[in-house]
Amino acid sequence: MRKKIPADAVRVGMYIDGFDTSWFKTPFLRHRFEIKSHGQLEKIAESGVDYVYIDTDKGLDVLSDKEECCKECAEPPAEVKKPPVMSEKDARKQPDDNVFTDYVLAIDDLLQIDKLSLVEATSVGFELFVKTGMDIVPLTRTRNKKGESVITRDMLASPGELLIYRSDSQKYREYLSEAMRGVSAAQSNACKNMLIKENAKMLVHDLFNDPGSPAKMEACKDTVENVISSIIDTKGLITNLFTVNKHDYYVYTHSVNVSVFSVATALAVGIQSEGELFAIGMGSLLHDIGMSTIPPEVLHKPLQRLTDFEVTLLRGHVYEGLDIVKLYKGITPETLLPLVEHHENLMGTGYPVGLKGDKTHLSGKIISITNTYDTLTTSRPGFNAITPYEALIYLRDQKELYDSDILKEFITVLGKSGQ
Ligand SMILES: [Fe+2]
Repeated sequence: MRKKIPADAVRVGMYIDGFDTSWFKTPFLRHRFEIKSHGQLEKIAESGVDYVYIDTDKGLDVLSDKEECCKECAEPPAEVKKPPVMSEKDARKQPDDNVFTDYVLAIDDLLQIDKLSLVEATSVGFELFVKTGMDIVPLTRTRNKKGESVITRDMLASPGELLIYRSDSQKYREYLSEAMRGVSAAQSNACKNMLIKENAKMLVHDLFNDPGSPAKMEACKDTVENVISSIIDTKGLITNLFTVNKHDYYVYTHSVNVSVFSVATALAVGIQSEGELFAIGMGSLLHDIGMSTIPPEVLHKPLQRLTDFEVTLLRGHVYEGLDIVKLYKGITPETLLPLVEHHENLMGTGYPVGLKGDKTHLSGKIISITNTYDTLTTSRPGFNAITPYEALIYLRDQKELYDSDILKEFITVLGKSGQ
C-alpha cells in the first residue's frame, strides 16, 4: 500500500515510492528504492523534504511506539567504526546473500586513496583501512601522544588498496596540504600533482554521489582547469596526476585517470585551444557519471555473473550520464562528446550508436583509447588487470578499432611518465 509519511519517520527497511517534492530538490536520482543505510536517512534529512511516499508491500511500515527502528538506532554508536570484514571466497560462494550486500554498502562509505600520498613517520587524524579483494580491515596503527595514527613502513608496504571514510575527506585534504609544505623545489611538481589528483578523486566521488549538485559540478570544473594547467606547465608530464597501482575499480579513480590521459593525449596530437582541452578534460571526467544510476549491487558484481538485463542496464550508463549532464547550464555540446562516444570504436561495433570511422569525433577517438587502457589495467571483480605493456599491445593490435596515430601519441605520453 502506498502511504504518505513525514520524512523523519523513514527508517531502514522501508521502500521509498516517491518524494513529495520535485526531483531537483532531492539528493536521489531514483525515487523508488529501498532504504538500506543510515547514510540514506541522513541524505533525506539534509534535503529538507517534509514528506515521502512509502510502499508497505515492498518494505517496512511506520513504527509502532514500542518498536525500535533497527539495531543501529537501538545501540549507541561504537567508538571505532569498522566496515564489515569478508573474504572474496565467501562472497563468491554466496554472491547474493547479506554478506555481499554489506560489502557493497561498506565500500560506498569508503574512499580509495593513493598509498604514495602518505609519508612515513607523519601522523594522520583519520582511520585507515586496507582492502584486498573483498576483505576490508582496519590498518594496525601506532598512535602518537595526540592519539593520531603514525604512518609506518609496514602500513605503506601492506598489500591492497588503502581506504578512508568518505567523511574524513577534509582531514585527508588537510594532511595532503600539510605534506606539501617544506618539500624541495624538485619535488614540488610531483607533490602538487598528487594533491590535484587526490582532490579530483574526492570531488568526483562527491559529485557521483550527488549528481544533481551544481556546486559539486563547479568544483569539478575547477579541478579540470588545474589538471590542464599542470600538464601544460610540465610540457605533457603527467607523473602523479593519475593512479598507477589499481587493485580494484573505483569509478572516481578511473574517471580522473581517463581525464588526465585524454587531456595529455589531446595536447600531444596538437590541440592547443583551452576551450577544446577543457571540453575533453571535463567530458572525460564525467564520462561515466551515468554509473551513479546503476545499483551498487550490479556495479560491484563479478562480470561473469551479470545477467543480460544487468549488462543492458550497465550499457545504459551512457544515456543516463547524458541526461544528468544536460541538466547543467554551461556544459557545451563539445563537453558531451567524450561522454557519448567513449564506448564507440572505428569499426562501428561500439555502443550506444555504433558510430563508424570518422563519424566519431577526435575527442571520442581519444577517449575510446584512454578509457579502454585504464579499464584493462584495473582489476575488478571477475577481471584481473593486465600490465600497461600488455594493454598497449592489445590496443595496437586492434587497428580496426582504435586510431593508430592517436595511440602512438598516447604511448608517448605514458612513456614520459615512466609507464
Ligand atoms: Fe563507460
